[in-house]
Amino acid sequence: MLRLENLVKRYKTGDQALKGVNLEIPKGQVLALIGPSGAGKSTLIRCINRLVEPTAGAVYLNDVNVAAVGAGELRRLRRRMGMIFQEYALVERLTVMENVLSGRLGYVGFWRSWFRKFPPDDVAEAFRLLDRVGLMHMADKRADELSGGQRQRVGIARALIQNPELLLVDEPTASLDPKTSRQIMRLVCELCTERGLAAIINIHDVMLAQMFGQRIVGLQLGEIVYDGPPNGLTSDVLTTIYGEEDWEATIDKVEEEEEEETTTAEAVLGADR
Ligand SMILES: Nc1ncnc2c1ncn2[C@@H]1O[C@H](COP(=O)(O)OP(=O)(O)OP(=O)(O)O)[C@@H](O)[C@H]1O
Ligand SMILES: [Mg+2]
Repeated sequence: MLRLENLVKRYKTGDQALKGVNLEIPKGQVLALIGPSGAGKSTLIRCINRLVEPTAGAVYLNDVNVAAVGAGELRRLRRRMGMIFQEYALVERLTVMENVLSGRLGYVGFWRSWFRKFPPDDVAEAFRLLDRVGLMHMADKRADELSGGQRQRVGIARALIQNPELLLVDEPTASLDPKTSRQIMRLVCELCTERGLAAIINIHDVMLAQMFGQRIVGLQLGEIVYDGPPNGLTSDVLTTIYGEEDWEATIDKVEEEEEEETTTAEAVLGADR
């Protein structure tokens, strides 16, 4: 569904943020992208929808090279890719509903399109999505009246209203407390399953990456240094990605968490029987 071929990004400053990345993601796969600060995670995500222009290489979305198309075709392709940001990027003084509907505008300049009326189908879909992300009762609230977790739910609904097939997610939980972070990650992953969406999720938290990613890609200095299953993240692998550190505590913690989740699930199943 998505295929990156020899993707290179060199910024004008001379920083080579991506050094020839090859990556293929099938339909419906949720991939967690991890790596130290400056590894190139945001650059990678942004080269896919060309918020950052790749220097070389190709980005195939269903066999169309996003990196090579003109402006009109790019706008159309971008509608196939929803984006969710760390800082939510909501329009503060607009309502929740208006923010969700703004997702229909794709990447068209917001103010240019603002005075257009939205078709009733879009409004109905926005209500369905708000219901799905648990914010139906907040449709008329202003964005600046929401908590971080609620804002991210709006960001998720806005990304989904254009009915994308790929989600690009950059540090969705970096500004949230641990519990809200998990709720948001769970919501994103459930929505991917429900809608058959592929996702690339940049995430600093290794534990969250392991809990929610179906596949982990580790990036370091613009190169992929790990590509494998979540349970393949041994302390050696983490050292390769992040450098020397004592990882045992992180790994033990994830194993404990997994046990805890199983126990909870078993308890629920037990109660049902
Ligand atoms: N607009 C820019 N101009 C010049 N260099 C940039 C720009 N954006 C990023 N870089 C450089 O590219 C490299 C990769 O940055 P990027 O933001 O992609 O990393 P990241 O993995 O997302 O880091 P973080 O975890 O801190 O968000 C870094 O060396 C950074 O300094
Ligand atoms: Mg980043």
